Amino acid sequence: MNSTTANDLYTDPSQFPGLDVYAVAGNPITHSKSPVIHQRFAEQSKQAIHYGRLQPAITEFSKAAKSFFAAGGKGMNVTVPFKLDAQAFAEILSSRAQLAGAVNTLWIKEGKIYGDNTDGAGLVRDLLAQGIQLRDARILLLGAGGAARGVMGPLLEQEPSELIIANRSSAKATELVSLFREVASTHHVSLESQTLLELEDPMKTPQGFDLVINATAAGLSNESPLTATAAARVLITGSFAYDMVYGKTTVFMQQALHRGARVSDGLGMLVEQAADAFLIWRGTDISINPRAVLSELRT
Ligand code: ATR
Repeated sequence: MNSTTANDLYTDPSQFPGLDVYAVAGNPITHSKSPVIHQRFAEQSKQAIHYGRLQPAITEFSKAAKSFFAAGGKGMNVTVPFKLDAQAFAEILSSRAQLAGAVNTLWIKEGKIYGDNTDGAGLVRDLLAQGIQLRDARILLLGAGGAARGVMGPLLEQEPSELIIANRSSAKATELVSLFREVASTHHVSLESQTLLELEDPMKTPQGFDLVINATAAGLSNESPLTATAAARVLITGSFAYDMVYGKTTVFMQQALHRGARVSDGLGMLVEQAADAFLIWRGTDISINPRAVLSELRT
């Protein structure tokens, strides 16, 4: 049923006269849910668009993006592994894209390429929609790579009481803390870094967080960033455990369920970051319903 032709992977805007053309760029991109999500937003808001895919070779993002916009493309979502290339490609960056160190949304306006990052806002909106209180919460963020950095700013803006970044290697986590120290202090958040190993230590890590977010790539190799001891320390019955990946119950989510915590995968974040991108492109006055799209995807 799901046959993908070479044309499906190289959306050419000139092939869709009369339609505003968008695409998601990544490698691999075949299984991306972005086309169906954006097509649903377009139906909800009665916008005539075409949204396709682009799968540039790993070293050829900028070449592909240049041809896409030169052929009339209006906007692009960008996913793994091109978010840094997209940041370099954009001529004008939003302040949150600068802080995130990556771009997931591009568009063209008056001949200039703009770049933004809607990942963090998408995560925050999904958490709030699930009834998670972020203000004054104690949050543990696992991982200190691009995925973690992308959501730090919007999380801090929600003014949790505390945000601890725990990473396997300590250097990246301390780097993130220094990068966001000012934002944290503006929002009165206590921001600290730890190693994953230190999460086992009762002297270093107090028992139980309100929210534990997995932004590591550990799930890809069917692992959790938390040892059993660390999981028992940071996850309690009242915790909410959020994994940024979607489509499966990860080992991290299983640990949380075992501890009696509530869990979520990252599908809502995917839909909400797409919603933000759609509104950037099409205008904030239009009406879309991301939660309805999320329910459809879940069934
Ligand atoms: P991304 O952009 O997805 O964040 P990345 O920048 O390569 O990708 O970062 C991957 C993150 O997952 C890092 O925090 C990495 O930890 P290190 O900085 O110590 O490498 C973390 N990670 C990957 N595999 C992991 C594993 N098996 N256990 C714990 N952390 C892991």
